[in-house]
Amino acid sequence: MQYDHHTFHNLMLGKAEQSVATIKDHVGKDPMRLKFHFMPPAYWMNDPNGLIYYQGEYHMFYQFHPYSAEWGPMHWGHAKSKDLVHWEHLPIALAPSEVYDRDQKGGCFSGSAVDDNGILTLIYTGTIMKEGRVIQTQCLASSTDSVTFQKYVGNPVISVPPEGSSSDFRDPKVWKHEDKWYMVVGSSKDGKGRALLYRSNNLYVWEYVSVLAESDGTMGTMWECPDIFQLGDRYVLMFSPMGMGEKKASYLTGSLDYSSGKFTWDYCGEVDCGFEYYAPQSFLDDNGRRIIIGWLNAWDWMPWFQNFGPTFKNNWCGAMSIPRTVEMDDDGHLRFLPVEELKALRGGHFHLDRTAIEGEIQALPQSIKGDSLEIVAEFNLKNCHAEEFGFKMRVSDDGNEETVLSYSPKTGELQFDRNRSDGWSQGIRKCKLESADKDTLRLHIYVDNCVVEVFADEGRTTMTNNIYPNPYSINLKLFSLGDKVELISLDIWQLHSVW
Ligand code: FRU
Repeated sequence: MQYDHHTFHNLMLGKAEQSVATIKDHVGKDPMRLKFHFMPPAYWMNDPNGLIYYQGEYHMFYQFHPYSAEWGPMHWGHAKSKDLVHWEHLPIALAPSEVYDRDQKGGCFSGSAVDDNGILTLIYTGTIMKEGRVIQTQCLASSTDSVTFQKYVGNPVISVPPEGSSSDFRDPKVWKHEDKWYMVVGSSKDGKGRALLYRSNNLYVWEYVSVLAESDGTMGTMWECPDIFQLGDRYVLMFSPMGMGEKKASYLTGSLDYSSGKFTWDYCGEVDCGFEYYAPQSFLDDNGRRIIIGWLNAWDWMPWFQNFGPTFKNNWCGAMSIPRTVEMDDDGHLRFLPVEELKALRGGHFHLDRTAIEGEIQALPQSIKGDSLEIVAEFNLKNCHAEEFGFKMRVSDDGNEETVLSYSPKTGELQFDRNRSDGWSQGIRKCKLESADKDTLRLHIYVDNCVVEVFADEGRTTMTNNIYPNPYSINLKLFSLGDKVELISLDIWQLHSVW
């Protein structure tokens, strides 16, 4: 039977919805599900896509495989929120259905969303394989009700990469400047990542402008999910470089010359120094806040089932970070802070003042359970002779499971050790804090079942990691080894679930 394109897309969406509907209630009962992070109703997700504040609501799309908890032909899942904290799942927005986006190893890859005079428009990468080679093109889909999307009949709107760039050509981020649309696309040349710039009057016809910026050979082999945005009178280019080992999401601070299409930069930083933070995307909200959300995982060299944690056995895999505001300091370094709206989740509260910590102490009264917590702690570093101090999180009653977040005054390093977290997770992640030169260390920590997000240096350093402890491992401990440390203040809130 022959279908027209629109009907066939709807058919593919319906099939995908059906697949999710049969499993989502079962998945919803999994004790490993997160309490206040966004997750798809079931199965696999990766990058955030199309983040936009549109007609009074936040919309989030995401890379979605609605048939299993492994990566597969990419769809765009969709959800919306009034407060960035509580999300409502909406029907799947895009499914692979066309010659340019229907392939077992392809689909509707990452991209962005814009408000085109009231029409919510998605710009994504159609990906297919032909004779073992990837073919990536930039495509449009639009909606008048912000729920159902029609692919543009003239797709793709950019059908080949520019001369000299590789066939890796994906993840368009589109924005408006004065009266023109601009698009940045990730690509590479000779194994060096680069970001390409395009310009358009109408979103449908694009002109190639330039290589916006590229790696000098030290910044990754391919730049995935590039995003460029203005902060004050400067610009930030954020991207996820491939082949950079521990570095998963980087940014450059500099200036953008729209006429030459060149971005020049003088500062390079990391968005997050943890194991799991990739493909962040930014958007601007109606209060003028620049906000990013990242995928709480990352591609790696390990087999996928080890990379992505045991929740795949329970038919889901992947989550989004809490939304973080982005601000820039005078030195070009960015500050990432949890959005204020999260405070609405605060429940039971525990406070401790001026306490010397020595050895190991139980920080929580029995009434506070330790798998959905916000912790704000300030330690005195003046005359502190401790070897290391910090928190043991998600500790089991018998002490066999524990995740250790510690700070060493000697080295100035924050360390996250998940070797004893759960029998699945592995590895130690370290990063140097600027607090080393200060009198106090302030840590702001979110623990949400399988995710720990840490904000240090007032947001100048963040570290995000996944762990998969037993649901009963809910003790939290404070410790100091070698000598005591003074805890100036400690606040712990139990956080309500948003689901
Ligand atoms: C980043 C990424 C993107 C691509 C998408 C496919 O995680 O590899 O470059 O568009 O995922 O799912």
